[in-house]
Amino acid sequence: MNTNSVSEPSANEPKVNEPGMNGRSARGLGVSFTDVRFAYPSGVQALDGVSIDIPAGQRVAIVGQNGAGKTTLVRHLNGIFSPTSGQVVVGDTDTKGHTIAKLSALVGYVFQNPDEQLFARKVRDDVAFGPKNLGAEPERIDELVATALERVGLAGETDTHPHNLSLSERKRVALAAVLAMDTPVVVLDEPTTGQDQRGIALIARIIADLTAQGRTVIAITHDMDFCVENFDRVIVMALGRVLADGSPEEVFAKPDVLEQARVEAPQLMRLSTALGWSDRPRTVAEFVDKLPAR
Ligand SMILES: Nc1ncnc2c1ncn2[C@@H]1O[C@H](COP(=O)(O)OP(=O)(O)OP(=O)(O)O)[C@@H](O)[C@H]1O
Ligand SMILES: [Mg+2]
Repeated sequence: MNTNSVSEPSANEPKVNEPGMNGRSARGLGVSFTDVRFAYPSGVQALDGVSIDIPAGQRVAIVGQNGAGKTTLVRHLNGIFSPTSGQVVVGDTDTKGHTIAKLSALVGYVFQNPDEQLFARKVRDDVAFGPKNLGAEPERIDELVATALERVGLAGETDTHPHNLSLSERKRVALAAVLAMDTPVVVLDEPTTGQDQRGIALIARIIADLTAQGRTVIAITHDMDFCVENFDRVIVMALGRVLADGSPEEVFAKPDVLEQARVEAPQLMRLSTALGWSDRPRTVAEFVDKLPAR
């Protein structure tokens, strides 16, 4: 297998420690945004001075109302966008001056809309595209494709045309395409949209597995229950800026921030607040645990 493109980068190429493509576990990489501003050619100022540091291996949720700048922000991580000013760094690689192809070895980005990501006539080819581009050999590609499709619950759909799948299934194909690349950083843009309870549980499991492998996971979500159950840190955005950044307990205790960002606290936290509790249970199990004490 040709691992040159990822394991022996030249001085100008992104460096990956222990890339997953050669069969070893790819550790996470930290990412940082420093005073990032970005304006679309139309003149819309989508990011207005965003600074965020995410250590390697952390799992972070980004929340905020429609148009807050969440997608624009994460698209800076794999070079789809380059900041108008400020800096975006992945590991020790400044994303400026690196192509999407190079940054894709570091950051896997699952699109909000799978139809912007998928292009092949067979599910297998969409999932094989990334590893192929990273230089994996055919047998290894087959292995990565099979494993990734199994993880997303679509093992039987390798020869299916993605257009014959439902939106929720296409979203999971898009997720498999990123999992097959085995990147140190995984970015999920609205992963639970359109998924039923089983799909949501499956995605939660994948996030837990990625975290156990040491990967950095960044997810944008409108689902606050999913957010509080699966993430250790929550970043709230509004109008291209960060309004709050902390643990779910901290962030969801700030009604003014939530109101400004048009975000509602997770159900169990709202219920415990309504009951006058000072605790903020994240899960049903935590809520039930605290009941006997009342
Ligand atoms: N291609 C584009 N051209 C011009 N403006 C855009 C483009 N994409 C997004 N915008 C604008 O940039 C701002 C940020 O949009 P972005 O898609 O990053 O928000 P978001 O937080 O991801 O929203 P959502 O929750 O709806 O996905 C919005 O005002 C949006 O209208
Ligand atoms: Mg978005």
